Formats: sequence, structure tokens, C-alpha cells
Amino acid sequence: MANTGAALMSDFDGGLGRLDNADFERVASFILSATGIKLTPSKKTMVEGRLYRRVRALGLGTISAYIASIFDHGDCDDEVVNLIDALTTNKTDFFREPAHFNFITRTALPEFIEAGHAVKFWSAACSIGAEPYTLAMVLSDFALNRPDLRFSILASDISTEVLATAARAVFPEEMVEPVPVVMRQRYLLRSNNPTNKVVRMAPEIRNLVRFARINLVDDRYPVERDMDVIFCRNLLIYFDRETQEAVVRQLSAHLRPGGYLILGHTDSITGMTVPLDPLGHSIFRRK
Ligand SMILES: C[S@@+](CC[C@H](N)C(=O)[O-])C[C@H]1O[C@@H](n2cnc3c(N)ncnc32)[C@H](O)[C@@H]1O
Repeated sequence: MANTGAALMSDFDGGLGRLDNADFERVASFILSATGIKLTPSKKTMVEGRLYRRVRALGLGTISAYIASIFDHGDCDDEVVNLIDALTTNKTDFFREPAHFNFITRTALPEFIEAGHAVKFWSAACSIGAEPYTLAMVLSDFALNRPDLRFSILASDISTEVLATAARAVFPEEMVEPVPVVMRQRYLLRSNNPTNKVVRMAPEIRNLVRFARINLVDDRYPVERDMDVIFCRNLLIYFDRETQEAVVRQLSAHLRPGGYLILGHTDSITGMTVPLDPLGHSIFRRK
């Protein structure tokens, strides 16, 4: 998972050698083809800091030995998963961009209930789970008054590390502060040990979310093509324009007509040839 700036500084100059430009280019071009993430030269110090952790974990001595073990000797095939984990940025929050959850309850759900089918949600870059668990709490609360609501939630990410954290569903107390008090009381479990400042999602919320590892730059997604709502928030910004458009086009193909694609506030699809109508707040409707 992403390191903090402070951790990066303490990793600096630990006798592990420096990441030279050639090795940085090898890592950057591998990450671009494996994940679509564009690592510009301005990210070199960040990359170096994150790789030091892997070098230490493997006891390889230097950063150049680490790069060679992956790209020259090929004796570390499993390590590419850790490399991808180390170089993805996983920042997320509960109730991030709350207008999207208001849109779900006020506009989308009444419409879907009227249509009479079970509603399929997909959180397509879910990080450690705050987004799909927010959705699970919002939908569960809505269902208290509308027991006829039937729904499923698929949550996916490329990083195995964040998926493991998401499945554990244990979060620091301060991270759930944006969750409304009533929902905290209903859906969060406190530790028996009061000094342990963590909460866990209640089993009825955990059981609503199915996790899978899906790389959105792959040619095909192992996902049904009749999704009602796809969240893909705060991921496209890490891609170049061509990759962004390919991903948006493929996500659109997994929506049923009239379904919604929800992006992050800083993501843009302006100028893309995709079958989506903008509704504002980074919400798009499949034509
Ligand atoms: C900044 S987080 C966004 C989390 C959440 N959607 C939100 O807005 O709070 C971006 C996530 O995208 C994931 N990611 C990066 N490249 C990906 C790819 N090619 N396919 C799927 N997920 C990817 C990262 O692992 C990370 O967890």
C-alpha cells in the first residue's frame, strides 16, 4: 500500500543503493503495460521509496539487485504482484464524494425498484473497501423502508494487498468518522478491548460484498454485462488518455442501457467517443 512522505524520507539512503534512471524506466514501462498507470519521471523518488520496502522484505541487499531479479533473472514471478501492490495509490474514504450516494438513494434506487429486477452494483477500483462498504450500508438502510429492494455488490481491484484488507473489513476508528452515527451503531462492531481503536464491518454488511481481483486494462472483464451501477472513481487520473477511453468504453459495455457509470470528481470523459450521457457530478447514464 502507499507509503507516507515521512516513511519515504526514512527509507532514503539506507544502504540499499539508488534507483538509477534506466531501472526507473524499466519499472515504469512494466507498470504501464501491466496496469495502465503512467509513472512520470517526477514520481522517481516515490517509486524508489516504495521499492525499498520490497528490497528489505526479500533481503536482496540493493535496489538494482531487486530490479535484476524481476527483469533479468525472471526468478521472482510472484514478486510482480507485490511490485504492482507497492506502486498503486490506494487513497480512499468512507462516504467519499457523498453526492454519489445521495444520487443512488434519491434517483437510481426508486427507478430500479420500479423496473422490478435485482440491482447489480460494481465498485471497480475498490481499494481497501470503503467504497463498497459505504454502498452496502446505504443500500441496507434504504432496504429498511423498502424491503422489496434486492441487490448485489461486486468489488474489485488490481491490488491483492488492498483486497485482503478489504475482506478483513477492520478499519481504524478515525477512518469511519464520515459514517453517520446511526449507521455506525447499526453496522460497525467495536473491539472488546477499548485500547484497540478499530472497528469491523458487521457480518451482515461484509456478506453483501463479493471481492475479486480484476485488472481494468485487461481486454476482457469476467463480469456480467448487465450491471446497473458501476463506480470507477479516482482511478482514471493515473492512466493516459488512450487507456482512460478504453477502460470507460469497456465499463460502459458492462452496463445495461439506462445504467449509471460513476467516476471521481476529477475524472473527465470530455472528448471520448463513448455511449454515455452526462448527468452532472461525474455521473453518466448508458445510452
Ligand atoms: C485512489 S484508489 C480509489 C479508490 C476508490 N474508488 C475511491 O475513490 O475512494 C485507486 C485504486 O485503483 C486501483 N487500480 C490501479 N490500477 C488498476 C487497474 N489497472 N485495474 C484495477 N484497479 C486498479 C488501485 O490499486 C487503487 O486501489
